[in-house]
Amino acid sequence: MKTITLGLIGFGTIGAGVVRLLQENGGLIERRLGARLFLKRIADLDITTPRVVSVPPGLLTTEAAKIIHDPDIDIVIELMGGYEPARSYILSALANGKHVVTANKALLATHGNEVFRTADRRHVDIRFEASVGGTIPIVKTLKESLVGNRIDSFMAIMNGTSNYILSKMTDEEKPFQVVLKEAQALGFAEADPTFDIEGIDTAHKLAIVLSLAYGKRVNIDQIYREGISNISMQDLEFAKEFGYRIKLLALAFSRGDQVEARIHPTMIPADAMLANVNSNFNAFHIIGSSSGPVFLYGQGAGMMPTASAVISDIIDIARGMIHGVSRLVPYRSLSEDIIDDIRLIPFPEIRTNYYFRFMAADKAGVLSKISGILGEMNISIASVIQKGRKKDGAVPVVMTTHKARELDVREALTRIDRLDVVHEPTVLIRIEDERL
Ligand code: HSE
Repeated sequence: MKTITLGLIGFGTIGAGVVRLLQENGGLIERRLGARLFLKRIADLDITTPRVVSVPPGLLTTEAAKIIHDPDIDIVIELMGGYEPARSYILSALANGKHVVTANKALLATHGNEVFRTADRRHVDIRFEASVGGTIPIVKTLKESLVGNRIDSFMAIMNGTSNYILSKMTDEEKPFQVVLKEAQALGFAEADPTFDIEGIDTAHKLAIVLSLAYGKRVNIDQIYREGISNISMQDLEFAKEFGYRIKLLALAFSRGDQVEARIHPTMIPADAMLANVNSNFNAFHIIGSSSGPVFLYGQGAGMMPTASAVISDIIDIARGMIHGVSRLVPYRSLSEDIIDDIRLIPFPEIRTNYYFRFMAADKAGVLSKISGILGEMNISIASVIQKGRKKDGAVPVVMTTHKARELDVREALTRIDRLDVVHEPTVLIRIEDERL
């Protein structure tokens, strides 16, 4: 029986999960693969702290070079995360003719072109299922299962931390700061939660998804991004009254030869499947031009769910090795010799439905001033609620709109916020109630 030799760089939570999975399911994997996976070495700066698995001490090293330059090792598994030295390790491993499996979304989202070019030049594989959606097979679904489709619509919850916080805020009626502290105490949120709550982690994942669904290269800085730290209890309550729930969504839509892509808190109908993805779960709602809707749901993080995705990548590469093939499936949506940058629609040009909460004086003529400006800017009102919850002399006046252009909305709100009857900056939350 053929033996395929592995080297693991990064013995943190996910790395330990991969080792545990190999130990627990080694026999099953061997039967399914028809080959033996042999983990020859594990590199980590910390090789003394006990992990959830025990490994023979001789397996551990603090020097990643002992994996990258070991001629016996066929597949390097990079699970250390971050930009450097992960980038250099991956590039060296590829240059040495090794296949690579990684979960490093930040690296692929920003240095993907360099990494994939290097892999292609050396005719080796690089796989990254665990970089987006944890255990959920979204990479494979987009690259393989839906390969014959134009991806008309992609709507996803890709950050478990934000989803956990928003779900708790909605269902337990606790404000953002309280839920964030609870989430940190439970280990669901990082001590510095910025990446998760400000949509940066989601942006890295969306950049990867775009390169799988729409073309090859995208500039991550051009993706509009808004996090959840400004979501208030008041807006969650109004969302409920309108029949919506608020989720941090990554959205991408096919628009002719352009793509609309954005990340922001979004009101979606309370009965939509995505609206009922709660706690720290992730989910993907994709509409392919021929497939129609496809929905994927599961754990977007965590030791064993993520390890499951890493192992599937290892096995895919190993299957190719057994048959002497690599790169049977392109790394991204197109083969590497086709240059095709993704053309994003400038964010001010997008059109969607909006929710506005104005904090306005409760007196005659206020609504007509606000609606007058909206009318001048071609923004058509779909519904209005005013509730007498007076705060510092102002009451919330809440509206939803029909489809309007972002640029017009921004200009209208700038003008409205200058009115002396409007006491606070207006809150804007985008609504998606089609396609779900
Ligand atoms: N920090 C991420 C999340 C998990 O909260 O979903 C890793 O991608």
